[in-house]
Amino acid sequence: MKDHKLAIPEPDKHFFITRELVRFLHRIEKLSDKYPVNVLVVGKQGCGKSSLVRQFAAYFNRPLATFQIGLLTEPGQLFGQYEIRGSETVYQENLFPKAITTPRCVIHLEEINRPEHPKALNELYSVLSEDRAIWIDQLGLVRVSKGVVFFATMNEGEEFVGTEFLDAALRDRFYMIHMDYLPAQIEQRLLMLKTGIREEEAALITRVINRLRNDPEDPFPISVRHSLMIAELVALGAPIREAITYSLQISRDMLESLLLSIHVETKEVAAESQDYVIFAPDGQEENQKWARI
Ligand SMILES: Nc1ncnc2c1ncn2[C@@H]1O[C@H](COP(=O)(O)OP(=O)(O)OP(=O)(O)O)[C@@H](O)[C@H]1O
Ligand SMILES: [Mg+2]
Repeated sequence: MKDHKLAIPEPDKHFFITRELVRFLHRIEKLSDKYPVNVLVVGKQGCGKSSLVRQFAAYFNRPLATFQIGLLTEPGQLFGQYEIRGSETVYQENLFPKAITTPRCVIHLEEINRPEHPKALNELYSVLSEDRAIWIDQLGLVRVSKGVVFFATMNEGEEFVGTEFLDAALRDRFYMIHMDYLPAQIEQRLLMLKTGIREEEAALITRVINRLRNDPEDPFPISVRHSLMIAELVALGAPIREAITYSLQISRDMLESLLLSIHVETKEVAAESQDYVIFAPDGQEENQKWARI
């Protein structure tokens, strides 16, 4: 299993979340002084779940360790496995025990709803529930350290809408963050800030994207990753039509009729009730600037 090393990640200078969520994350930070905390982040593909976990670690100066739970094929694998060295079989400890015994570590459990092996989650149960400790024959008692925060992320798609994958008792121990795509105006800002494209370009890209995402008949989930890909091409001088067709699986014909429909459209939905701000270590100025978009 490939895992990243324990390190404090670099902050994203342009990471947007609601003010309410910023406050909630500060509360999680406080709460973790008392005991380890579990947070489940649910949302559509590419809406910023992994970035949120990374930014939490960056913002609060915490080491981050990410584990692909979706790749677990056998129980016990998170902690270590036997390896053959010459003629000997030796137990090789994985990063997970080190991460959960590191004070204030942020543990990102990716795709917690999709382990390859149904029992692969077993060893996670004890560290996520009140025990916060697990006996591993080869390692002894492994106890979760002070201040550790577990973030489990899962994709909300057609197959998974709920949290049935966790037994009710465990589900009870998770705070829940539900993420969605950013409002169009915020995504437009994000594209401009991250890629340097012009306002009109960013506006057109987000209109096209949101039109596709919100198609009443056939909604097309387009990740922020994809909207950034389009913007990057535009920043390099690509015409918007070209950038979109090379980035999304959409035919030119379909794009043309879509563009046409956007141009004839007179009233855009402008109900941006939520208050989005930049959540970054030096984002104070931006926070003020975008306090009320
Ligand atoms: N709120 C946001 N502010 C700034 N950038 C964002 C935001 N949301 C997403 N992004 C950008 O979009 C890209 C995709 O985000 P991320 O990988 O966090 O999504 P995800 O929900 O974890 O995706 P997946 O479902 O594929 O795991 C990243 O490059 C990230 O920087
Ligand atoms: Mg992710």
